[in-house]
Amino acid sequence: MHYFDHLLQSFNSLSHRYLLHFTLLLITHNKENLAMDLLNSFLNLVAPPFTFFSILFFLPPWIFFKFCTRIFHSFFPEDISGKVVLITGASSGIGEHLAYEYASRGARLALCARREDRLRQVVDRCLQIGSPDAIFICADVSNAYDCKRMVDQTVHHFKGLDHLVNNAGISQVCTLEEADDITNLRPVMDVNFWGSVYTTKFAAPHLRNCGGRITVLSSAASWIPAPRMSIYSASKAALEQFYETMKIEFGSNVKITTVTPGFIESELTQGKFLSHEGKMVVDPITRDMQVNLSPVGKVEGTARAIVKQTLRGECYVTEPSWIKMSYVWKVLWPEAVEWVNRLMCMTTIGGETHHETIGKRIMDMVGGKSILYPASIRSSEMKSE
Ligand SMILES: NC(=O)c1ccc[n+]([C@@H]2O[C@H](COP(=O)([O-])OP(=O)(O)OC[C@H]3O[C@@H](n4cnc5c(N)ncnc54)[C@H](OP(=O)(O)O)[C@@H]3O)[C@@H](O)[C@H]2O)c1
Repeated sequence: MHYFDHLLQSFNSLSHRYLLHFTLLLITHNKENLAMDLLNSFLNLVAPPFTFFSILFFLPPWIFFKFCTRIFHSFFPEDISGKVVLITGASSGIGEHLAYEYASRGARLALCARREDRLRQVVDRCLQIGSPDAIFICADVSNAYDCKRMVDQTVHHFKGLDHLVNNAGISQVCTLEEADDITNLRPVMDVNFWGSVYTTKFAAPHLRNCGGRITVLSSAASWIPAPRMSIYSASKAALEQFYETMKIEFGSNVKITTVTPGFIESELTQGKFLSHEGKMVVDPITRDMQVNLSPVGKVEGTARAIVKQTLRGECYVTEPSWIKMSYVWKVLWPEAVEWVNRLMCMTTIGGETHHETIGKRIMDMVGGKSILYPASIRSSEMKSE
């Protein structure tokens, strides 16, 4: 009996203690929650006017400052002559023409891609038009070891690295549901995103040493939701966010220029992309469906504009510049962008094949290709394979 009383007493005191502890916990937890809720309600109330008035007061002087520095840099751009520039994806399209632009300004060049024959031709032309020294390195940027080798070989040959141009890229054109095996589309992310990340990682110490610059070829597709290019668009959006973070991590030690082109003549706009089977194909009919009524810019002019603005220290370059307006549409009225893209690129006219989208039909009817597409992309023949 005595033993039983004792047990009951201790159980009671224990249960009281736990009850007390539990109540206190509930009160403090509620207090914390209450404080957090109050803080969030306060911020919900204060953040919009704070943002509005900060932008109203601080943005105009900042824009004026940027305008002045832009004018200064347009008269005194960076002198690239004799500096070392590594360009990935230099065997065709934008990368090839960026190489010619740097070469004509006297830069020393390391040109990388997988096709040796094409790289050889580009190197020869670079040497003819003004580069004092140019080498090619065959490498696959989706392979981290190749990226390291590419940077090491460049630094070994030139004893330094001043500019890195992350340009290599591939695209996919098929809807998510059309893809036979979704893992076949992984190369898009591996080349476009990881290829740039690997190369940046290995080049960073060298670029830091000399206050160098990284130019990265993203795309307007990073904000425009283009159907059948979901993985490509995602890879470019990831790339942009990666380099936004790098700007903070590098500070002023390594400058970064993000380039967001619209459609530009190249092998990509000739219709070279990963198909739903995960095979690299050249399919101008599907290209027509994707590009439809968008004008395709000339590659020489685009490359010239990119290098010119990069050497002026621009952080963001969009070519052609009217494409920037699509960003305004996307931010202010995303539903309109979705609706137009769906209508032009997805909607087919009754009973037609899935290729006959409204955008393509209009372009075929008005013969828009001869005006909107440069001659080089109207045929599906590649310069060499
Ligand atoms: N053209 C456009 O309309 C457009 C628009 C927006 C953004 N961009 C971007 O601009 C960049 C250049 O594309 P482009 O239009 O000039 O197309 P492109 O003519 O097809 O050039 C792509 C380049 O990337 C190289 N490349 C592809 N896979 C590679 C790999 N695994 N390793 C190394 N190099 C590789 C190709 O060389 P190899 O095949 O010899 O390896 C080629 O030199 C891309 O990042 C693209 O996304 C283009």
